[in-house]
Amino acid sequence: MSKNSQLRDSFGSKFGVIAAAAGSAVGLGNIWKFPYIAGEYGGAAFLFVYLAFIMAIGLPVMLSELIIGRSSRRNAFGAFKVLAPGTPWRYIGILGVSAAFLILSFYGVVAGWSVQYVILSVQDGFSQKSPDEISTLFTTLIESPIKPVMLQLGFMFATGAIVIIGVKKGIEKYTKILMPVLVLILIGLSIKSVSLEGAKAGLEFLFKPDFSKLTGDGILSALGHAFFTLSLGMGTLITYGSYIKRDNNLINTVISVTVADTLIAILAGIAIFPAVFAFGIEPSEGPGLIFITLPNVFHQMPGGYIFSILFFVLLTVAAITSSISILEVVVAYFMEEFKMVRKSSTVLATILISILGVLCSLSMGVLADYKLFGLNIFDLMDWISANMLLPIGGLFIALFTGWYFGRKKVQEEVANGGNLSGAMLTIFIFLVKFVAPIAIAIVILNKVGLLTFS
Ligand code: TRP
Repeated sequence: MSKNSQLRDSFGSKFGVIAAAAGSAVGLGNIWKFPYIAGEYGGAAFLFVYLAFIMAIGLPVMLSELIIGRSSRRNAFGAFKVLAPGTPWRYIGILGVSAAFLILSFYGVVAGWSVQYVILSVQDGFSQKSPDEISTLFTTLIESPIKPVMLQLGFMFATGAIVIIGVKKGIEKYTKILMPVLVLILIGLSIKSVSLEGAKAGLEFLFKPDFSKLTGDGILSALGHAFFTLSLGMGTLITYGSYIKRDNNLINTVISVTVADTLIAILAGIAIFPAVFAFGIEPSEGPGLIFITLPNVFHQMPGGYIFSILFFVLLTVAAITSSISILEVVVAYFMEEFKMVRKSSTVLATILISILGVLCSLSMGVLADYKLFGLNIFDLMDWISANMLLPIGGLFIALFTGWYFGRKKVQEEVANGGNLSGAMLTIFIFLVKFVAPIAIAIVILNKVGLLTFS
C-alpha cells in the first residue's frame, strides 16, 4: 500500500457509501428542478425520456465514475493522471472541477432561498396572504441585494463545516442521519397530497404522456437533468468512488443509488402535482413552482402549517447532502494536486465558490441586466453546467472507460465483492463505448444547431 492510500480517508460502511452517494444524487435537482422541468415539458412524456436516459446513459456513466475513482484512489483530476499518465484525458478532470464551481455557485443560492422558506414557514408567513402576495414575496426575496446573499453564505458555511470534518466523520456521518429523515418526510407529504380531493388530475399529468409538449429543448433538458440528478459528469462520483473500499460491491451501489434517486424524484412529483391540481393551480410555473405554487397550496390545505415546515426542511436537507459532495470535488482536488491540508482547501474552495455565488444571487436583482446569450449569470451557470459541461464530461468519461480503460480492467475492478460477468459486462461495455457517447453527441449537436432532424 502506498503512503498516499494509507493517508486517505474512506467511507466506513456499505450503508455509509449508499447514504453518501444517494445524498449527493438526491438534492435540489429532485425536488426543485425535476418537478418544474417536467411541468414545462409535458409531465409524463418528459418522465419517459428522462427514465430512458437514466437507464441507458446514467447507470453506465455512474458505474464508470465509481470504477475510475476506486481504481485510482484520486480526485477527479488526479484519477486520470494515475490511470492514463501523460495523456490529455486529464482535461476531463479540469472540466469537472470547473463544473463544480459553477454548479455550487447557483446551488447555494437556491439552497439559501430554501432556508428562508423554512423560516417563513415557521413564522406562518403564508397564511394571511393572497396568491399575488405570495408570488411577490418570492420575487422580492430573490431580487433583494442583501438577504439572499446572507442566506447563501450561511448555507455555504454549513456545507464547508461538514466537509472540513472529513469523509467518514463528516460527510458519511451526516448523510447517514439526514437521508432517512428526508425519505420519511417525503413519504408523509406524498400520502397527504394524493389523499386530497382532485388529486387524480395531478397523477395523470405525471403518469399519462402527452408527447406533443416534448420539444428538442425538452429532450436536451431530460439528458442534462439525468446527469444533474445523478451527480454525474463532473467527477463527484469519481471523488466519492475513491473513498470506497475494495470489498464494496459497486454494481449494488450504483443500482441502489439510481433507484433511490429516481424514486425520490417521482415521489417529489407525487407530493407536488396532485396538490397543485387539487387547488386548481397551473403546473408549468418554472423555477418558482415550489416557492410560489406550493406555499399557495399549503395555506389552503388543512395541516398546511406543519406540512410547509416539513417540506422546506426536506428541501434544505436534500440540498446540503448534495452541496457537500460538490464541494468535496474541489477540496479533494486542492488537497491532492496542490498538497494542501483539508482545512485550508475547504476554506479556500468555500470562499471562491461563495464569491461566484454572490454574483449569481445578485444577478436576480441588481445585476439582472448583465446577460450573455440572453441569460443572467444565475441561469447561465445553470445552463452551461447542466446542459453542456455535464453531458460533455459524461461523454468523455464513457469513452475513457469503454475505449481506454477497457473491458479487462473494468472486470477486475468490479469483480471485488460483486460481479459483472458475461452478458452484463458486454452490455456495459457496449453502452459506454457506443450508446452513451453517440446519444449524448446527437443531443448536444442538435442543441447547438449542428445537426437537425426534419
Ligand atoms: N445531484 C444533485 C441534485 O440532484 C446535485 C449534484 C450534486 C450534482 N453533485 C453533483 C449535480 C454533481 C451535478 C454534478 O440536486
